[in-house]
Amino acid sequence: MRIGILGSGLMGGKLGTLFARAGHEVVFSYARSERKLQRLARQARHNARAGTVRAAAETAEALLLAAHWSRVPEVLRQAGDLAGKVVLTCSLPMNEDDTELVVGRSSSGAEELARSIPEATVVSAFGTVPSEVLFAVFAARRRARRPSLVYCADARHGKNVAARLIRDVGFEPVDAGPLRSARYLEPFTLLVAQLAYEGKGGAQLGYRFERFRR
Ligand SMILES: NC(=O)c1ccc[n+]([C@@H]2O[C@H](COP(=O)([O-])OP(=O)(O)OC[C@H]3O[C@@H](n4cnc5c(N)ncnc54)[C@H](OP(=O)(O)O)[C@@H]3O)[C@@H](O)[C@H]2O)c1
Repeated sequence: MRIGILGSGLMGGKLGTLFARAGHEVVFSYARSERKLQRLARQARHNARAGTVRAAAETAEALLLAAHWSRVPEVLRQAGDLAGKVVLTCSLPMNEDDTELVVGRSSSGAEELARSIPEATVVSAFGTVPSEVLFAVFAARRRARRPSLVYCADARHGKNVAARLIRDVGFEPVDAGPLRSARYLEPFTLLVAQLAYEGKGGAQLGYRFERFRR
């Protein structure tokens, strides 16, 4: 798959690297320095390059939006036409100082995003785990018991793209239904962050949903 990374920080930098290692063609974009994007591309080694947001969006089938919520309008403006693209968002709708959600209960960041780019298919994915756990999950991907990763979207095609990439990174995809489920998924992320950054045991934290049958 050709994947554009829109926001190459903690989440975008790591996920882009893992997508490339899993065999996808990746373009890293949107950082404050071009040299950083080039370094990420070099370090990912396989099939990765640095580019502008426009270039990353133009060629990609799927995009990962991994910028701060306050930067999202600017990133979308730079991206241009997103018709037919699958946009996976891990961007939480947080205020400037990352202390609280600015959208919630009757909507979600993912739904607001979908309203602003109706020509694209928006999927909420990857935002429910801390960046610190991603490489460890990838390293353990051959194990039978994988950590879960919830995602949600309205369109089947978007769900299929997300499930594939989630598996490639080493998680077990859990379909949480329509995009409106992001209303529950986004606050859940704050719980995961609380456990990861304030709890005991460190930030390399994943989660796993299990069903029990008698
Ligand atoms: N970090 C996590 O564990 C985590 C987990 C779940 C969800 N999220 C969500 O994922 C999204 C990304 O988080 P993150 O932690 O990856 O953030 P981050 O490390 O700050 O990455 C944001 C990226 O945007 C770039 N950027 C910011 N302002 C810019 C500007 N004016 N011009 C050009 N580039 C600019 C940054 O450039 P530089 O690289 O030069 O700084 C960086 O590459 C956020 O919405 C966050 O809520 C994060």
